Amino acid sequence: MHADGIGPLHRTYAPPKYGSNLPTRVMPATVVEVHGLKKHYPPDFKAVDGVDFRILGGEVFSLLGPNGAGKTTTVEVMEGLRDPTGGEVRVLGASVPRDYDRVRKRVGVLPQNFDPFDRLKVSETVTYWAALFERTATKKEVKGVLDTVGLAHRTDALAMHLSGGEKRRLGIAMVLVGEPELIFLDEPTTGLDPHGRRELWSVIRDLRKEGKTVFLTTHYLDEAEHLSDHVAVMHKGKIIAQGTVDELLEKAGAGREIVLSRPGPGTWEAVQRLGLPGRQENHGITIQVKEVGRLRAVLGDLTALDVDLGEISTRRASLEEVFLQLVGGRLEEGELRA
Ligand SMILES: Nc1ncnc2c1ncn2[C@@H]1O[C@H](COP(=O)(O)OP(=O)(O)OP(=O)(O)O)[C@@H](O)[C@H]1O
Ligand SMILES: [Mg+2]
Repeated sequence: MHADGIGPLHRTYAPPKYGSNLPTRVMPATVVEVHGLKKHYPPDFKAVDGVDFRILGGEVFSLLGPNGAGKTTTVEVMEGLRDPTGGEVRVLGASVPRDYDRVRKRVGVLPQNFDPFDRLKVSETVTYWAALFERTATKKEVKGVLDTVGLAHRTDALAMHLSGGEKRRLGIAMVLVGEPELIFLDEPTTGLDPHGRRELWSVIRDLRKEGKTVFLTTHYLDEAEHLSDHVAVMHKGKIIAQGTVDELLEKAGAGREIVLSRPGPGTWEAVQRLGLPGRQENHGITIQVKEVGRLRAVLGDLTALDVDLGEISTRRASLEEVFLQLVGGRLEEGELRA
């Protein structure tokens, strides 16, 4: 148990003594609580306009939103870097910013657009960073964190010679050497190529497996969908939807999609005559079925058409549809634009 009483990330929940023989259950503790958070900039701009969420121990929580939504402002208030205009923020049991110093060492931060020190080697950077946290990192520990982020082969390289993805991984190594329980990653994958993004996803998944709590901001819907236990969608300073990915899809009634790949001539016109909502793109037709229970009936209507449907498949609608519905935004190369 830590001095401030919030203790290990997973608390043991003991059932009442009388009667019950239920086994002891492990309940995740709340690691971050944000209530009514506001951050206004003069004269009257509401960058964060009354935001509520909480983050459970051991989960990946994503704050998803387009440029200017208020993500970095929210994270920086949680990191004690900006004073809120109103509301309450508790991180690992400490009220922020007032008592943040009490928990600072248990939190790791990767700022947006992180760039390491050009002229330090990878291993030196990690050692130096540990010293800033008043820790002496042994060679073994440095190797351990570089292994975790997949940078062991670049130990002696100068930071200025790393690729963008490697720099981001070095940033995460710097975060990890402080052995934080809670990690804030502000857009860790922006600007990386698809391969670099996926490599960082696997680092983040490994952190979760180790029981770390990860707070992530991102523009990418697929990232939020693949990595997160909970997602909050932020837009113009407000959280407009939050829950598990499944809950968001269900609440938005996103339903299913039927995809016709390489249909024959006249198929799109026939689908339109049936009055089905859909779109034609590339070499296919996508039809939305809002109520999952209607899927069979719609498939029946389609197969009864006297046209070549091509190859038929169905898929669950994605978070993309939910976002587009919520804010009328659009996507550019998988990134949110509103
Ligand atoms: N110090 C400041 N003074 C005035 N306005 C600010 C300040 N910092 C941020 N803003 C404004 O607050 C809004 C939210 O900014 P923020 O950086 O939190 O967005 P974001 O969601 O992180 O965006 P991005 O995805 O581009 O990083 C923006 O319109 C920004 O211009
Ligand atoms: Mg930002």
